[in-house]
Amino acid sequence: MDSNRNDLDALLKETRQFEASEKFKGNAIVRDRSIYDEASKNRLTFWESWAENLKWREKWHTILEWKPPYAKWFLGGKLNVSENCLDRHLEAGRSDKMALIWEGENGDSRSYTYRDLHAEVCKLANSLKSLGVKKGDRVVIYLPMIPEAAIAMLACARIGAPHSVVFGGFSPQSLVDRINDLKAVCLITADGGYRRGGVVPLKTNADKALDSCPTVKKVIVVARLGQPTEEFSADMEIGRDHWYHELIGEAEPHCTPEIMDAEDLLFVLYTSGTTGKPKGIVHTTGGYLTQVTATTKCVFDLQEDDVYWCTADVGWITGHSYIVYGPMSNGASVLMYEGAPDWPDKGRFWEICQKYKVSIFYTAPTAIRAFMKWGDDWVQKYDLSSLRLLGTVGEPINPEAWIWYHRVIGKERCPIVDTWWQTETGAIMITSLPAVTETRPGSAGEAFPGICTALLNDEGEAVSAGLLAITEPWPSMLRTIYGDDERYESTYWSKWEGIYFAGDGAKIDEDGFLSILGRVDDVLNTAGHRIGTMEVESALVDHPAVAEAAVVGKFDEVKGQAIAAFVTLKENWQADDGLVMELRDHVAKKIGAIARPDSIVLTADLPKTRSGKIMRRLLKDIAEGKALGDTTTLADPSVVQGLKEQYLSKES
Ligand code: WTA
Repeated sequence: MDSNRNDLDALLKETRQFEASEKFKGNAIVRDRSIYDEASKNRLTFWESWAENLKWREKWHTILEWKPPYAKWFLGGKLNVSENCLDRHLEAGRSDKMALIWEGENGDSRSYTYRDLHAEVCKLANSLKSLGVKKGDRVVIYLPMIPEAAIAMLACARIGAPHSVVFGGFSPQSLVDRINDLKAVCLITADGGYRRGGVVPLKTNADKALDSCPTVKKVIVVARLGQPTEEFSADMEIGRDHWYHELIGEAEPHCTPEIMDAEDLLFVLYTSGTTGKPKGIVHTTGGYLTQVTATTKCVFDLQEDDVYWCTADVGWITGHSYIVYGPMSNGASVLMYEGAPDWPDKGRFWEICQKYKVSIFYTAPTAIRAFMKWGDDWVQKYDLSSLRLLGTVGEPINPEAWIWYHRVIGKERCPIVDTWWQTETGAIMITSLPAVTETRPGSAGEAFPGICTALLNDEGEAVSAGLLAITEPWPSMLRTIYGDDERYESTYWSKWEGIYFAGDGAKIDEDGFLSILGRVDDVLNTAGHRIGTMEVESALVDHPAVAEAAVVGKFDEVKGQAIAAFVTLKENWQADDGLVMELRDHVAKKIGAIARPDSIVLTADLPKTRSGKIMRRLLKDIAEGKALGDTTTLADPSVVQGLKEQYLSKES
């Protein structure tokens, strides 16, 4: 656990005083807790009542079948997710309600009512069918943040073809690994996307990847850049590649939704684990939709006229559950933005909030800390009076950032929901509920109604600070790791019998408020993105110069954690700054720019135990400039001292 958060206690005390002060208004009223009472009386019927709000083609006969660690929810139930996110609202007379409002980085914009979105999704669904994509076929989506990303997900759901979205910042190699693991038959991509004034050459990346992906027979290409430029002209392969606009131009705007079983695969999303190979997290249909619908409604206290903006990318689980499925199942008006918060200037997000009168804003602590660093003036230029609720997700939020968010963005008027959950959990698990409970800086609050969490030690005993565990199955839980039940069992269910191990450390205070402390495994959380240390290490040793590599997370004021690498070179390689740059770029090329190490130290030796295990704890201490712990178990304690001196000289 991150010892940088040891001073959390002091900060919490400070923030309690703040809460008690006159300045903190509208937040501390404890309201009607009947939703918690109802769920604790009977968790299964609680979830069932949420499922009943959805449109089912056939009702389930059993709420839950739990054969640890395998869960099935709403057995026998039949439904279609896209029908629930679209048709249901048309039937309820909300056809003209705005469904998706999109703004491009360049300031171009598009909007879709639920009627429009339904038609677009149907057209793409029919196009996929005309290309031969059938129920059960896997489709990979590799798109920028454009409406077509949401349309593609919903179109796949409509025809029962599980999708897997690959973040547009990932490399061709990452795309290859995911496509091949899934044996995907179709790829939906774009000629490119805009990012900070530059162009991300998605189709060029996709073409590089597709050389190694024999299963992909069809590629659909969105013309985002419009006129293909010479540099990024999409080379269309005849027979395989099709322009999106040409396909949908010929397609019917009606498509009968495929009737899916509650436990049919909805999507696979890859996330980093403690080995070099990302895990394909499997999510199914009925339980997933039930929990994302319930949490979106309750956590954001969603009202009919809200304009809801979640700043995540659809390439991450947050984009799946809280841009597309949860909000759209609730018939919300969803804002989607293509670009970065600091382009063309650092007021961009607030300009958008003002322009579209955003009422709910959901983002990550890294972004909040960056806004804080950029200064209040950027915010104060804009009218943010439409905001009424703020959210945070993806990493622990430090109380200073929470307070700043509350004061400067929320004008001390908007409650903040700090939501803890994971790709694996599918939906929010720990949070406060703004209409029900109080919210506190530095604390995610309590488990969502119907969710059972505990803090345990290695022996499975309850503790007030320890490992975060989920003790009962929940509707949107992952069902397995794609094609790897064994890894599913050993990663999440082998620590305690029938109890889910989340990989996070947490503590609970006397009022039952949980504070998440961070990962306890070899997974980094850098700028809210999960990166496995082993993944970065594998990418480093893939370079011909590298003999051995060890990667650790080091504290970073904005990103939470930065990536620090220690590398030993093979003989005959010259250690110099040029090589360091080359190695950093090599990792970015192998995985994607988000995994580029922030620092690399080239060293003759790595500190190892006598049995040959690299002592990561010591490397972390070195990277963070802390006093070193016990080094007596090391095979050669002098390595550490040398490394520390070397590191300090690099940093200065
Ligand atoms: C971390 C993102 C503290 C945690 C939805 C978890 C958080 C990992 C919070 C999952 C939070 C997420 N407070 N830490 N509110 N939310 N995390 O799969 O370490 O990308 O295990 O899902 O992010 O990351 P993932």
